[in-house]
Amino acid sequence: MKHFKRLLACSLAVVMAGSILVACGGSSTGSSEADDSSAETTEADAGSGEKLVMATNATFPPYEYVEGGEYEGIDVEIAGKIAEKLGRELEIQDVEFDSIIGGVQSGKYDMGMAGMTVTEERKQSVNFTDSYASGIQSIIVPEGSAIATVDDLSSDTRIGVQQGTTGDIYATDDYGDGAVTAYKNGADAVQALLTDKIDCVIIDNEPAKSFVEANEGLTILDTSYAEEDYAICISKDNEDLLTEINDALSELKADGTIDEIIGKYITAE
Ligand code: ARG
Repeated sequence: MKHFKRLLACSLAVVMAGSILVACGGSSTGSSEADDSSAETTEADAGSGEKLVMATNATFPPYEYVEGGEYEGIDVEIAGKIAEKLGRELEIQDVEFDSIIGGVQSGKYDMGMAGMTVTEERKQSVNFTDSYASGIQSIIVPEGSAIATVDDLSSDTRIGVQQGTTGDIYATDDYGDGAVTAYKNGADAVQALLTDKIDCVIIDNEPAKSFVEANEGLTILDTSYAEEDYAICISKDNEDLLTEINDALSELKADGTIDEIIGKYITAE
C-alpha cells in the first residue's frame, strides 16, 4: 500500500467543545451551491473594498461548519486573519468540496480553503500555499466492528467517503471502485454507517472525532490510513496572491496566531 501509515494513539476521550457538535446535525444552511445567500462577509471589513473570495465546504468541523447561520472553524478564522493582513474583505462561498479546485482554476474564487490536502495530482491544477495544518485520514467503525485495523480493509469492505476527498481517492486506489461509496459530505457517510449501509468511513481525523462524539456507538481505529498537509489552493494565474498569502501565513505562524486558533478547536492529545 502506497499511503504512509503509522500507529496513531487516538485519544478517544477527546473533550470536544459543544460548539463543534453541530457536525452530524447536518448543515443548517442548505450548503449546496454557491449563490448570494450562501455568501457571508466578515464584520472585519478591512476597508479596501476588494473582496477575498474563499471557497469552502462547510460540513467539516472543526475546520469549517455552520452554526447559528454563521461560518465557524479553524479555516474560517485563519482566513479572516489573512484577509485582514491583505486589507481585503473576506467572503465565504459554501460549495461542494469537489467543485472548489475547478472554481479556483477558473477564477470564480480567489482561494480554496477547506482542510484541503496538498497532493501531487491537485498541484497539476492549482498552486498551494505553505501548509498551515496537518491531517490524518482515519477510519470510523461501529463499536465492536470486525474491522480492528486498517489491514482488515479489503475490496469486500463497504467503505464510505466524502466525494472527491483524499479518503475517496486513496480508498478507490487501494480497494477499487466497487468497495467505495462516495457521499456528498462526511455527515451523510456517517449516517450511512449508523444505518449499516457501509462498514466504515474514511475521513480526516478531526472531523472523525467530531462525528464520533456526536453519535452513539461509533469509534475511531487506532491505526491511521494516511498523513497529510493542509494548505490553501490558489489559481496558477495568481502568483501575486500566492506570495501575499504565504507572507501573511508566515507572520501568523511566527506570532502564534495560527497555533492559538487551532488550539481553540483541537484539544491537544
Ligand atoms: N483533507 C481531505 C481532502 O483534501 C478532505 C477535505 C474535506 N474538506 C471539507 N471541507 N469538506 O481531500
